[in-house]
Amino acid sequence: MCGIVGVIGREPVAGKIVEALKRLEYRGYDSAGVATLENGHMERRRAAGKLRNLEARLVESPLHGLIGIGHTRWATHGKPTENNAHPHASDKLAVVHNGIIENFRELREELIGKGHVFATETDTEVVAHIVTEEMRGGLGPKEAVAAALPRLKGAFALAFLFDGEENLMIGARLGAPLAVGYGDGEMYLGSDALALAPFTDTLTYLEDGDWVVLTRDGAQFHDMAGRPVVRARQRTQASAFLIDKGNHRHFMAKEIHEQPEVVGRTLAHYLDMSAGRVNLPFDLPFDPAKLSRVTIVACGTAYYAGLVAKYWIERFARLPVEIDVASEFRYREAPMDPHGLMIVVSQSGETADTLASLRYAKEQGQHILSVVNVPTSTIARESHVAALTLAGPEIGVASTKAFTCQLSVLACLAVAFGRARGALDAQAEKGLVDELIALPGLMAEAIKREPKIEHLAPSLSKATDVLYLGRGTSYPLALEGALKLKEISYIHAEGYAAGELKHGPIALIDESMPVIVISPYDAVFEKTVSNMQEVAARGGKVILIGDEHAEREASIDLHAVIVMPTMAPTFAAIAYAVPVQLLAYHTAVFMGKDVDQPRNLAKSVTVE
Ligand code: F6R
Repeated sequence: MCGIVGVIGREPVAGKIVEALKRLEYRGYDSAGVATLENGHMERRRAAGKLRNLEARLVESPLHGLIGIGHTRWATHGKPTENNAHPHASDKLAVVHNGIIENFRELREELIGKGHVFATETDTEVVAHIVTEEMRGGLGPKEAVAAALPRLKGAFALAFLFDGEENLMIGARLGAPLAVGYGDGEMYLGSDALALAPFTDTLTYLEDGDWVVLTRDGAQFHDMAGRPVVRARQRTQASAFLIDKGNHRHFMAKEIHEQPEVVGRTLAHYLDMSAGRVNLPFDLPFDPAKLSRVTIVACGTAYYAGLVAKYWIERFARLPVEIDVASEFRYREAPMDPHGLMIVVSQSGETADTLASLRYAKEQGQHILSVVNVPTSTIARESHVAALTLAGPEIGVASTKAFTCQLSVLACLAVAFGRARGALDAQAEKGLVDELIALPGLMAEAIKREPKIEHLAPSLSKATDVLYLGRGTSYPLALEGALKLKEISYIHAEGYAAGELKHGPIALIDESMPVIVISPYDAVFEKTVSNMQEVAARGGKVILIGDEHAEREASIDLHAVIVMPTMAPTFAAIAYAVPVQLLAYHTAVFMGKDVDQPRNLAKSVTVE
C-alpha cells in the first residue's frame, strides 16, 4: 500500500519520479505528490486522486530539481485529499511514507506540546516533525533520522529529502519494502524493482530495521542499531517486463488472456513433461515423507488458492492440511506440530499479515515454503524455500493470472508430496501430470467463450446480490468468483459451498437473485443438481458454468450456461477460473467501473 520513490540525478528528476510512480500506482491511487529541491529549497506538487491529476499539476507548475521524492497513496489515516497527500514537509525536510505509524497519536501530542503545528490528518506527518525536532536540537539530518527511527512503532518504508541538501537522501525500512537502485551517476529509492525498472536493474533490498544514506556516488547502509552494514547488490529481471496493456482495454483483460501462456510457463518450470513427472526446480529442505501436517496461510485470492490446494494435498499426499486467513492466524497463537510445514501464498510477497504469520511459524520451528510471484520480495527471502509463480508482473489490482499460477504451483507440490510419501505411484503421477499439461490448452479454449460471457454482463449488472455455489475445489472458486465480482463491479456477492445453501442462504433466493453454479461433471455433480433444483424451485436464476455433460444432466431450466471444454475434474478449478474472472470483468466494464483500479483497493497490502 502506497508507493514511494526517490531519485538523486544529474538532470531534473520530476519526470523520472512520475514515471516510477506510474509503475507503483497499483499500490494505491488516492493521491500523489512530488517534492524536489529548487535552488536548494523544498518545493512540492500534490494532487488528490490518480496520478494523472499530479501530472496535470506539474504541467501547470513544473519542478526542475535534480533531487526529489514521490509518493502514490492508499489512504489509511485521513481522507484522500490534496492536503493529506505526501510528501509531508516541515521547514527542514520532506518525507514520503508507506505503512502505518501506530504510535502517531502519542508522538503528535508530544510534538504539539513542543510547539509543532500539524497541517494534516495523517500519521506520516509525525515523522516529518519528529525528525525536525531532532534537527532543531542541533543534529544533522543523518543523526536526526537515526535518533527518530527507534521512536516510531508500526510498519514503514520512508524516504527523506532535506532543505539545502542537494546531494543527500535517506531511506528507512521496517516491515514495508524498500530498495536502493544504482544508476550511472544517479541513485534511486523505490518500493520495488518494478518502479525502478526503466532506470536500473541493479538493486539492494534493505533488511528490516535498515536505513540508508544516499548520495550521487553511492549508498551507505546501517542496521537498526545504527551500525554500518554491507548489503548485497542483486540483478533483477523486472526490466524485462513491459508494463503495457498490449491490445487490451485494461490490464485485467490482458492478464486474463495471458493465462494459458503464464500457466504453461509455470508448469514447464515444475514438470518434466516428457517423463510425466513433477520435477521441482529446487531441493526441498525437508522430507515430505516426514511431515505430519501442512498449514496454509494467505489473504484474499491467495487464500482461496490455498483452499483449493487443501483438497489436492489431502487427497494426493494423504497429509492433513489446516488453512487460515493470515490476519486471523497471526494472532491466534496456534500450536504447531514440530514436523510441520507452513505454505504461505502471496502474489506480492509483501502482505503484512502473511509475513507476520510466516515469522510466527518460523519461531514455532516450521519449515516455510512460500508460493510467491515476486522473487525478491520479503516473503520469498524469509522462506526456507520460495516456489515461484512465473506469472510476470500483475498490474490489475484484482488478481487473475497470479491466482491460476499459484494453483499450478500448488498442484505440482501436492503431486510431488504424494509421490515422496508413497501415496501416489509413478503411473498415478503420470496421469496427474498429463492432466496438468492439458490445462493451458483448456484455458485457451475457455477464453473463446468470452463473447457468450460478455453477453451475460448486462443482466448480471442489474443484480444487487449474486450467489456463487460450488462443491469440492469449485467451492473455493465460488468464493473467488464472488470476491472478483464484488471488488471490481461493487455488486454484493457471496460464495458458498453448495451443500450449505439450505443451511441459511436459501432464504435469500427470489426471482431477482442470480445464482452462479460452478460445476464440471464430477463425482459430486448429482448433489449439485439437487442444489440447483432448490434454487430453481424458488425462482432463482441459475447460471451454470459447467461442461456439456453437466448441461445435459442439469435437469432444470437454466437461465444461462457457459459451456466449458470437457476435462478431467481434478484440476478443473484452474481452467474454470477463466470464465469466473471474465464474468466479473465484463460485468464491471459494462457498468463503467474502473476495473484495473477499483475504489478503496490497492495491490500490495503492507498494512494490517
Ligand atoms: C483480490 C486480490 C487480493 C489479494 C490479497 C493477497 O483480487 O488480489 O485479495 O489476493 O490482498 O495479496 P498477495 O497475494 O499479494 O499476498
